[in-house]
Amino acid sequence: MRTEASRQSQKRRSKRGASTDAIAMLKQDHEKVLDMFKKFERMVEKEDDEGKSELVRTICQELKIHTALEEEIFYPAVRGAIEEELLMDEALVEHDSAKSLIAQIEEMQEGDERYNATVTVLGEYIKHHVNEEQKEMFPKAKKAKMDLSSLGEEMAERKKALQGEEGGSAESQAEEAERQ
Ligand SMILES: [Fe+2]
Ligand SMILES: [Fe+2]
Repeated sequence: MRTEASRQSQKRRSKRGASTDAIAMLKQDHEKVLDMFKKFERMVEKEDDEGKSELVRTICQELKIHTALEEEIFYPAVRGAIEEELLMDEALVEHDSAKSLIAQIEEMQEGDERYNATVTVLGEYIKHHVNEEQKEMFPKAKKAKMDLSSLGEEMAERKKALQGEEGGSAESQAEEAERQ
């Protein structure tokens, strides 16, 4: 039975959005980044360039941190827990494609002919990749009864360090300020 205290702490945790469950954390990142891609799409439709390059910079930063967390911590743990070499290798290949698009975007100027198209393609890639993770990899990881909470703690630690290295996006800095 859950005590009142544990319910309260659970409540606090979800309010802050800082869940320590590894899969919940990754899903939160997914949602956030997919929302940002939607916002980008709307801006392109409306030919609204105000704040667009900042949005794209944030998307790229968030994705770099997210893929690093998965590659350094989450994927190796899942690989050890489920026997799905191909699934795990595919995810890495998809990360590589995303990283190469991110590198191209970072080289571009906002006015570049292919800027909007490249960000749009990155968004489509990420949507596909997120789908595979959430529909295939995560359910398998859950079934394997991994210690998702200690994995999540490790990831939260590493995420903080990576956010520092990346200079932290405006958004994550705002989140950080909110936490204090
Ligand atoms: Fe991934
Ligand atoms: Fe992911």
